[in-house]
Amino acid sequence: MRLLITGAAGQIGQELIHAFHARGDEVVAADLRPRVAGAPDEAAWHTLDVTDSAACVDLCTRTRPDAVVHLAAILSARAEEERETAYRVNEAGTRHVLEACRRAGVPNLFFASSIAVFGPGLPQPVGDDAPTRPTTLYGVTKVIGEMLGEYHAQHCGLDFRAIRFPGLISDAEPGRGTSDYAVHMFRQGVRTGRYEAYCRPDTRIPLMYMPDAVRAVLELIDAPKNELRRCVYNIAAMSPTAQELAIVIAARTGAKITFKPDPARQAILDSWPQSLDDRHAREDWGWRPRYDLDAMAKEMISHLQSPPEAIRVGAKLPAA
Ligand SMILES: NC(=O)c1ccc[n+]([C@@H]2O[C@H](COP(=O)([O-])OP(=O)(O)OC[C@H]3O[C@@H](n4cnc5c(N)ncnc54)[C@H](O)[C@@H]3O)[C@@H](O)[C@H]2O)c1
Repeated sequence: MRLLITGAAGQIGQELIHAFHARGDEVVAADLRPRVAGAPDEAAWHTLDVTDSAACVDLCTRTRPDAVVHLAAILSARAEEERETAYRVNEAGTRHVLEACRRAGVPNLFFASSIAVFGPGLPQPVGDDAPTRPTTLYGVTKVIGEMLGEYHAQHCGLDFRAIRFPGLISDAEPGRGTSDYAVHMFRQGVRTGRYEAYCRPDTRIPLMYMPDAVRAVLELIDAPKNELRRCVYNIAAMSPTAQELAIVIAARTGAKITFKPDPARQAILDSWPQSLDDRHAREDWGWRPRYDLDAMAKEMISHLQSPPEAIRVGAKLPAA
């Protein structure tokens, strides 16, 4: 299978390049940024700005992928600071990629959505069909992406599949989302022995370890179409409070983790679900997380404490 990944240089994209390549798929990587260190040589690298609609059509037409994995986006915290860029990348960029698939005859598109499609005040855990009334610009653009994708599925014959990811934890530098505090607790906790989190200790959002998220993408892409009852799926793994996460990290590393809430980022966190109901993903394509909080903490800390050459492929890549 040949896959074109947009946003390939990011936190998820770097891991997906390796995962697809490891199972024998051909990867065409595309990003605003140049080839990341550690990307497999076999992955052809293209500079692509998804805000340029002609460039999206041109790349899809030239490379003829079996599927596009559309990851390019401006994440939540940055989107609030750079609204115009967020509109152009997240809303127009997704529209351009969908239209490029239609014009180039690409039959499949995977879209990285987010728990941010949901707004405050919902009964917990939040299910797939809960109202999507986000209060962040990032969330608004993710709802638009889901709806545009479903439109292309209904009217243009596209096989559109999407996952609403929780906050993802890996040892790569995160891309200015609002769940980044969880990643920094590990990275700073191990490297410097201390971290001051920008959230309240009782902040609770859904989180997931990256290997589970990567496996979910592969499993949903591979799932037989006749077993999927919907295009867009919640997936869940764990929902610790920030304090519970800090305690687990401190117990394993001795790190001193403190809390100093930042009002803007706390407001985003408070608008998101605390926990997700992922029963449709479990029923339709057999989704199950493999990592709980303890298993994730054990592996993350071990990776971060290992010398660079011992760290698994894909986790050692430097911040862009
Ligand atoms: N990381 C998470 O916790 C998380 C959670 C939920 C959803 N997601 C979604 O998953 C996707 C990937 O997230 P990530 O964490 O890897 O993000 P990231 O910020 O690490 O990577 C995004 C990539 O998009 C690229 N990009 C930005 N503007 C672009 C443009 N105009 N044209 C082409 N590329 C451009 C960036 O250079 C970057 O490499 C995003 O759509 C994000 O919304 C991520």
